[in-house]
Amino acid sequence: MSSAEIRFDDRVAIITGAGGGLGKTYALEMARRGARVLVNDLGGAVDGSGGAATAAAAVVAEIVAAGGQAVANADSVSTPAGGAAIVDAAMTAWGRVDIVINNAGILRDKSFAKLEPDDLVAVLDVHLRGAFHVSLPAFKIMKERSYGRFLFTSSAAGLFGNFGQASYGAAKMGLVGLSNVLAVEGARAGIRSNVIAPIARTRMTEQLLGPLAEHLDPAQVMPLAVYLCSEACSLTHEVFSVGGGRYARVFIGLAKGWAAGKGSRPSVEDVRDHLSEIRATDGHVVPTGIGDEMAMLMAALK
Ligand code: NAI
Repeated sequence: MSSAEIRFDDRVAIITGAGGGLGKTYALEMARRGARVLVNDLGGAVDGSGGAATAAAAVVAEIVAAGGQAVANADSVSTPAGGAAIVDAAMTAWGRVDIVINNAGILRDKSFAKLEPDDLVAVLDVHLRGAFHVSLPAFKIMKERSYGRFLFTSSAAGLFGNFGQASYGAAKMGLVGLSNVLAVEGARAGIRSNVIAPIARTRMTEQLLGPLAEHLDPAQVMPLAVYLCSEACSLTHEVFSVGGGRYARVFIGLAKGWAAGKGSRPSVEDVRDHLSEIRATDGHVVPTGIGDEMAMLMAALK
């Protein structure tokens, strides 16, 4: 274990939705550790309506007052032009992009039967498409420089499911897929990509967390987020649950399963009769790409 302080000197970090809540804690800490931070925030309401450049500007003022370097940006992540403008702002200021934290988010909770098409579009545009719009131009720059760190913000609502969050949960699980592919595609270029599912008291959740809220400080999420974006961290393709000072890996495992045998033609009843083997989780692997699944399939076909 190294005792060296984790630093971000010369690194340029883009943090979306960093005008408040979780993103602000990341921005302040990374700047304190030497990063140059592009603080993006549309400055709207929790449901995504409205907007004001003051949210990002206030965080930048705080960083600069503490002796750090930061630039404010109020573009929306929700369009390709907005994503490009965010990455351009970092390039114009500092000529490089090393880190992207996709953190911007809105909430439009409704039970599935009451889902409105406009809410679905808004939630997918900010959380899922927004992460594409910012990450794509950044990925190209990182590839050229053979270095990059991506962090995506998922949620238990998608990883595990939650009432009233169909569009949000789908978008948040979609980010796991995006991160996994960036981890695979970016591996040879030194690009690492990970996901956190945070739990913290912010304006987005203060009405939802109940009495637990006082124990769920965003500052307790920040250390893992910042670590995952550091050069010291070589982890990639991973997902973590983080909140209240608890840090835990979440993983997608592939069970050993039941193999009927090469060339077999199992019946529907065969499947029913082998459900316990099909569903058993002992001896599972945690694949790092489709190759691991193919290897298990090949083994079963031997
Ligand atoms: P927050 O509402 O304080 O932060 C979200 C920020 O994103 C806001 O400052 C907002 O202005 C900004 N934003 C919204 N739409 C934007 C857009 N189109 N372009 C740029 N910025 C935009 O809430 P919080 O909790 O800090 O959320 C941060 C992330 O963490 C979100 O992605 C959220 O879904 C996720 N999350 C939070 C949890 C929690 O317990 N607080 C739980 C699970 C996920």
